[in-house]
Amino acid sequence: MNIPVIMSLSPRGGGNSDQAADLFARTLRGESRSLRLRDHHVEPCTGCGACAGEGVCRMSGEDAAEDLFAQLDLASGLVLAAPVYFYHLPSQAKAWIDRAQSRYLARLGGHAAAGSVRPAYIILVAGRTRGENLFAGILPTLRYFLEALDFRIEDTALLRGLDGPGDFARDREAMDAVRRLAGRSGW
Ligand SMILES: Cc1cc2nc3c(=O)[nH]c(=O)nc-3n(C[C@H](O)[C@H](O)[C@H](O)COP(=O)(O)O)c2cc1C
Repeated sequence: MNIPVIMSLSPRGGGNSDQAADLFARTLRGESRSLRLRDHHVEPCTGCGACAGEGVCRMSGEDAAEDLFAQLDLASGLVLAAPVYFYHLPSQAKAWIDRAQSRYLARLGGHAAAGSVRPAYIILVAGRTRGENLFAGILPTLRYFLEALDFRIEDTALLRGLDGPGDFARDREAMDAVRRLAGRSGW
């Protein structure tokens, strides 16, 4: 594929994360590929420990989790756009992230080599306008999740005060922040 993947992690179709992801894509000069996590069925990790051997998940091939990781393996870069839910990511997104434990353990056990590191950009949208720690739970989670998939977070747009599904498209400052982020990617 070798083009950036731009992925919305929101369960709400057409909401702020989707619109921010689409604006990022439209701002780029080059091609990108759009994904929505909610279009894919992903089971949560049960902590069964099967992947602790050779890093192979017991649910491998039964849902879309690993296929999505495989699509990201082919990407030249990644954008994740997500809403804040109770100071963290929506549960579907966290379920998918937890499934990367098999990737993490495969590498730890020497069954998979690290690939070349690619850039990642993060867009987070929150309904609240204030709160020092609004994004503080999500960012380390994304950092270590993406590290297991050979991405490094280069930059973020942390957007506040966006609640209703049309709020992003009405907020010039938020749209400019996403356009600037896309511009800084150089893609
Ligand atoms: C279950 C749930 C939990 C939420 N928790 C928070 C929160 O902790 N802090 C916050 O600022 N906004 C919170 N919100 C508001 C969303 O972040 C906000 O509506 C956001 O724009 C949704 O993005 P989307 O349109 O991409 O789905 C929550 C919304 C829902 C549905």
